[in-house]
Amino acid sequence: MAELKELKRTFVERFGGTEEGIESYFAPGRVNLIGEHTDYNGGYVFPAALTFGTTMLLRKREDDIIRFASGNFSTTAEITLKDAKNVKEHDWINYPKAVLVHLAKRGYTFGGYDVYYLGEIPNGAGLSSSASIQLVTEFGFITAEGHPVDRVQLALIAQESENQFMGVNCGIMDQFTVANGKKDHAILLKCNTLDYELVPFKADGCKLVIGNTNKRRGLVDSEYNARRAQCEEAVASMRQAFPDLQFLGELNAVQLKENEHLIPDETVKKRARHVIEENDRVLASVKALKESDLEAFGKLMIASHNSLRDQYEVTCKELDVMVEEALKVPGVLGSRMTGAGFGGCTVSLVKNEAVDAFIASVGKAYAERTDYKADFYVGEIGDGAKAL
Ligand code: GLA
Repeated sequence: MAELKELKRTFVERFGGTEEGIESYFAPGRVNLIGEHTDYNGGYVFPAALTFGTTMLLRKREDDIIRFASGNFSTTAEITLKDAKNVKEHDWINYPKAVLVHLAKRGYTFGGYDVYYLGEIPNGAGLSSSASIQLVTEFGFITAEGHPVDRVQLALIAQESENQFMGVNCGIMDQFTVANGKKDHAILLKCNTLDYELVPFKADGCKLVIGNTNKRRGLVDSEYNARRAQCEEAVASMRQAFPDLQFLGELNAVQLKENEHLIPDETVKKRARHVIEENDRVLASVKALKESDLEAFGKLMIASHNSLRDQYEVTCKELDVMVEEALKVPGVLGSRMTGAGFGGCTVSLVKNEAVDAFIASVGKAYAERTDYKADFYVGEIGDGAKAL
């Protein structure tokens, strides 16, 4: 986490005044362990919050102006909430603006603030830098104003603001994880009810290693929306057998197998298979983790990646190469892409003693086989949004 003393100094240099009244907040990034592209299908996901994320400092002003600045980007802005709109030149600032506008719509009131961010999450890497900035903003502003914090509500409002203000049709997984994460726990979340269970991530003798392909997630918006539409098409077809069906996540593999002839389009059929099988894999992986069967957990991660590659078709050469090279290293139990796909990161379950060899050999082979160089982070599981 960024050094707070230094950040406060930067804040004062930037906005003037003294350090008095500066409050600081933090929200993490997230890594999804398994359950990909199931959230908007009303299915299960199994993500965890990371120990790195976004720190935000804020100090109340006398007027109703909100001034934004960041240590990562040069774009700054000065706004009032009543006329806040999504404008291109505000770039990253549209994210905090979006959540504040949507909180205001729900009746939350805010005064003016000077606000400074410092993010540690690489952008476009699929580790939820945007949900992190959204949640740190919501949590900080709400706490500073003395409003009660309801984390599930904050996640829903952040998702709504991303869908409506930012025009990105994401599911609930990222915002929910960043809001509700707990140190050393992964979250088993059922996305159509938001029932969840914090499951201790007891992977004794192993580490989660995140590999960044450094290929930014191209195509992600258009392809993501196309997948969502195909899933809706599958639901419509399956309603012939299940008239009340709302989400693919309500079906199990047997029900799909017996009725998949109702889906005429072969591609749509593959998409449905991925979602339903992936959903079953989430429950199987939670069971494996609870039984400390890390070998079984790793195998489910591999099956997840293969399905995302062959049936859901959201991987890319870089993700596939990284997973393929990971699986060649002795001591690697599982590896898969994490997040939306089309670039971004992989997550691997690696025995402690193999971590160094993993980073060296996957890094070398990846650089040889692609046009990019990889970065690696040994993932520690941290808490959700909090005051510092
Ligand atoms: C992105 C979205 C999530 C989820 C994943 C895929 O991260 O923001 O809602 O759909 O992709 O699992």
